[in-house]
Amino acid sequence: MNEKIIILDFGSQTTQLIGRRVRELNMYCEIIPYNKFPADTTGIKGVILSGSPYSVYNPNAFKADLSAIRKKFPVLGICYGAQFMVHTSGGKVESANSREYGRANLTHIENDALFEGIEKGTQIWMSHGDTITSLPDDFNLIASTSSVAAAAYHVAGEDTWGVQFHPEVFHTTDGTKILDNFLKICGCAKDWSPASFIDTTVAELKQKLGNDKVILALSGGVDSSVVAVLLHKAIGKNLTCIFVDHGLLRKNEFENVMRDYEHLGLNVLGIDAKDKFFDELAGVADPETKRKIIGKGFIDVFNAEAKKLKDIKWLAQGTIYPDVIESLSITGTTIKSHHNVGGLPKDMKLQLVEPLRLLFKDEVRRVGQELGMMPHLIKRHPFPGPGLAIRILGDITPEKVRILQEADDIYISYLHESGLYDNVWQAGTILLPIRSVGVMGDERTYENTVALRAVTSSDAMTADWAHLPYEFLAKVSNDIINKVKGVNRVVYDISSKPPATIEWE
Ligand code: XMP
Repeated sequence: MNEKIIILDFGSQTTQLIGRRVRELNMYCEIIPYNKFPADTTGIKGVILSGSPYSVYNPNAFKADLSAIRKKFPVLGICYGAQFMVHTSGGKVESANSREYGRANLTHIENDALFEGIEKGTQIWMSHGDTITSLPDDFNLIASTSSVAAAAYHVAGEDTWGVQFHPEVFHTTDGTKILDNFLKICGCAKDWSPASFIDTTVAELKQKLGNDKVILALSGGVDSSVVAVLLHKAIGKNLTCIFVDHGLLRKNEFENVMRDYEHLGLNVLGIDAKDKFFDELAGVADPETKRKIIGKGFIDVFNAEAKKLKDIKWLAQGTIYPDVIESLSITGTTIKSHHNVGGLPKDMKLQLVEPLRLLFKDEVRRVGQELGMMPHLIKRHPFPGPGLAIRILGDITPEKVRILQEADDIYISYLHESGLYDNVWQAGTILLPIRSVGVMGDERTYENTVALRAVTSSDAMTADWAHLPYEFLAKVSNDIINKVKGVNRVVYDISSKPPATIEWE
């Protein structure tokens, strides 16, 4: 893992995507704030400058000193990155008459290494309010569209390029090829792969942890499970995992996941804390209060167990790269913390170990696969920490949990059976706090309503409701109403995020 591409982040929404594309090309890269180019440049093969929400002439625009970068490494400026180099080299960037947004085609392409193998007419995606109106003398134009003259340039005598379009987005048909051409120019070996990641990480963990003992909270989810298997490979029985059953997991999930973990050879303490959580949640209807009770209860149980163990030095966490990037964010958004272990007792003085902190979610899955983990453990949909508590609108009772677990089990099992599970980012049932009239046989019923939710997404930040087939929905509805006592109506949620959210609470 010695070679890397540095992506300087000027705040664009697509910076992460650039990183993902480069990783997909099996090249290791790091995304760092625009003004934090490392002093130690060991292993850096090239630099990509991202887009930005600002105009270059906005007084608040992010400005980087490129003197340690240009002419020293190959550079590719994307959108703002391209405009910034023009602006600071004597060229002109002005507000475009009309915002240049959406699909376009490259009507002109020079014979240039960046465009090797790319045909004239290829579709690209533009998204900018400014445009380059005059290139500095030594900036050679290498591509145009019908409305944007300077779609791409190459600086004479320098391995420096700029593109005003976005090669990282899906709508730029040959975008990945263009990025790959850049990696070729940089002379990248492209040896980043799940297998190489596992080898280097396990070796590093062995060295860092030696004979120390480590604890990890397992959630049944992909990230913490992959962390567990990696650590187990590195330090074996010196890893102790704790899996808390708060009673709000899916039907039989605790037992099934415990069996999986044991099968993987992990040393796991399964803690049944259902009664504690049900007691503390009784009569509580407010979503945030429910979350707080569960978060605190989880920490209490985890701490009590951790304290019983002797000589623990490290706490492992399943932090992944999007969390890290967010925490470094230059636009000031705060980290989204879905890690339930936040308040460990200070007297334990634990150090943190986060072996997945440089991986994207899809890479975590690939690593899990390479580690030989069961596909159902790796492909599992995300599931919120507070579990079914935030899918039972209003207060929680064991009976409501039973109804929801039964309905959810029918829904999820049938998603698997129909081969639809992997097409969906996340799915689940919600128990609504209303009852309605129905008829069953000769009898009038007055029972609960269950909503089905399924979304497609790539990161849960935005999501579309999944267009599941009518036949599928009909069968799920029929089975739930016939088999789950207490439900006489099923509805399907057709809201996207934004403006709705994935969960109902
Ligand atoms: P929303 O509902 O905000 O959900 O669109 C986005 C993603 O986050 C998950 N989620 C949670 N995860 N604790 C968690 O660990 C929570 O309190 C929580 N709330 C939402 C949600 O399932 C989806 O994947």
